[in-house]
Amino acid sequence: MLADYSASHSTPVHGTPFVRTLAKEMPSHVGADVLLQGWLHHQRQMKSVSFLLLRDRSGIAQVVVEDSHVRAMLGNVPHEAVLAVRGRVVAAPQAPDGVEMHDPVIDMISAGPEEPPVEIFRPVMQTQLATRLDHAAIALRHPNRVSTQRLLSAAMHGFRNTLTANGFTEIATPKLLEAAPEGGANVFTVDYFGRPAYLAQSPQLYKQIMVGALERVFEIGPAFRAEPHDTSRHVSQFLSLDAEMGFIRDHHDVMAVARDVLAGMMAKMAKVKSSEAVDIPTVPTTIPEIHFADAMALLGDALGQDLRDEPDLAPEHERWLGDWCEQTFGTAWLFVTGYPMRKRPFYTHPQPDDSRWSNSFDLLFRGLEIITGGQRLHLHSDYLAALDQRRIDVTPFAGYLEAFSYGMPPHGGFALGVERLIRQLTGAENIRDVMLFPRDIQRLSP
Ligand code: 4AD
Ligand code: MG
Repeated sequence: MLADYSASHSTPVHGTPFVRTLAKEMPSHVGADVLLQGWLHHQRQMKSVSFLLLRDRSGIAQVVVEDSHVRAMLGNVPHEAVLAVRGRVVAAPQAPDGVEMHDPVIDMISAGPEEPPVEIFRPVMQTQLATRLDHAAIALRHPNRVSTQRLLSAAMHGFRNTLTANGFTEIATPKLLEAAPEGGANVFTVDYFGRPAYLAQSPQLYKQIMVGALERVFEIGPAFRAEPHDTSRHVSQFLSLDAEMGFIRDHHDVMAVARDVLAGMMAKMAKVKSSEAVDIPTVPTTIPEIHFADAMALLGDALGQDLRDEPDLAPEHERWLGDWCEQTFGTAWLFVTGYPMRKRPFYTHPQPDDSRWSNSFDLLFRGLEIITGGQRLHLHSDYLAALDQRRIDVTPFAGYLEAFSYGMPPHGGFALGVERLIRQLTGAENIRDVMLFPRDIQRLSP
């Protein structure tokens, strides 16, 4: 029977009001009548029987339809229709999870007028990235995308748990700012009641200020960068997992926390069901470290180029170092420390014995930067000198500098671009493929 849901959804079957059963709960209901509710993932019409795949948040259930009248009507129902299906759970060794539903009564809750614009029933979506992004509202229903989002959720969970367990307090800081924390050209200016304001490139200034109050803080929030380049690893809004802590000796204390946080994140992600398809690597107790100057010397030799004056690692350098790290240390994780001061923001602490270099680090994962962090300046006079040297006007930084004028401990922290991490873990070609609604130079919707 194919009935109108609005008329029949509360009708009890066999006299008992039905509670919803999820697809993955079916094996514990063999022999019983249950109610499934979900999306029509796919249907296969055979000669005398149809197989419906009904998708809910737990997975996909197989429903066997033999009634020729119902089969005929189902033939016109497009993918992604929402159905309520009541029937008997039967053991079926050949079916997914060893069970299927027989003799279904099917109620239509809602359905589109035609087939959806992306074929999400295919194991891998066969569409162009642009099409998937244009139709994110549907494409995000694909089981792979759902799994990716669950991985991201687990990553945030692991980040929160590990830091909370280590005495960090979660904070939420403003995203509309008077001063651009990271400097540079990639800041978005907005009209703030007639005067210029900036979208936060990071929570950097606020997380440092809050070390003065809480010692150890973290934030999970959006960061904005006006990235003019269309690359597979840059978007104009990303999710930044930030931490900051006081009373450190140097950046190595921060790196140790970053290592533990990553291990906590990997542990949570490994528990996500979909992780079976994703290789969740272990994080070594000590992640190998190479100084920027040594990395450049290695790269220079390997590539036959003079890279001694390079201020930063190019993407191909990061990839090369990723391969080198895998071969040399057998791990995908590599800390590069000591980046040149001239490429780092004003708050960066120099390397005490050689101020060309900094007490900062990047973490490369499979040859891509996913974390930047380091030790910060903590003396008021050092900030005034650093801003002056970079010809940055101190006026909009007054509220930030106040923290340092009344006493701040040596401190440092890091920021993890979690979408880059998920991209590397899933092997996605483009960071946009692991994001819900990416923003970039071309795209402001959906
Ligand atoms: O390297 P970034 O710019 O460092 C900071 O924002 C500092 N405040 C961090 C600190 O605590 N010292 O950004 C941090 C991370 C990068 O390593 C990268 O993973 C990610 O954020 N990221 C981006 N992800 C996607 N799209 C972009 N445009 C990104 N820019 C940075
Ligand atoms: Mg960086």
